Amino acid sequence: MTSLRIEHHPVLNFPERKIINFFFEDKQYQGFEGEPIAAALHAAGIRTLRRSPQKDRARGFFCAIGRCSSCIMEVDGQINIMTCITPLAEGMQVRMQKGHGVIKP
Ligand code: FES
Repeated sequence: MTSLRIEHHPVLNFPERKIINFFFEDKQYQGFEGEPIAAALHAAGIRTLRRSPQKDRARGFFCAIGRCSSCIMEVDGQINIMTCITPLAEGMQVRMQKGHGVIKP
């Protein structure tokens, strides 16, 4: 897996984690099961998670604790999912949310 992850650290140990597949804008990526969706995207080099509703500005990771809504995306057809606190699961379909998103029936 090519990524921007820290894999070796002089003080911390990282436990073995299961690698799973997920999709961002229909392209397949890999991440660790249970890690935040936004973390998996960040590790894959994806920094823009959504576009702001009024000025169409790029938004990405900001607070990373579920408080600012900067990371909201469409996940498995549901809009406004805070991807910094939502665990990654096998086969997830993740899309960039433009503006307020569109509620699908
Ligand atoms: S980055 Fe702030 S809610 Fe996700």
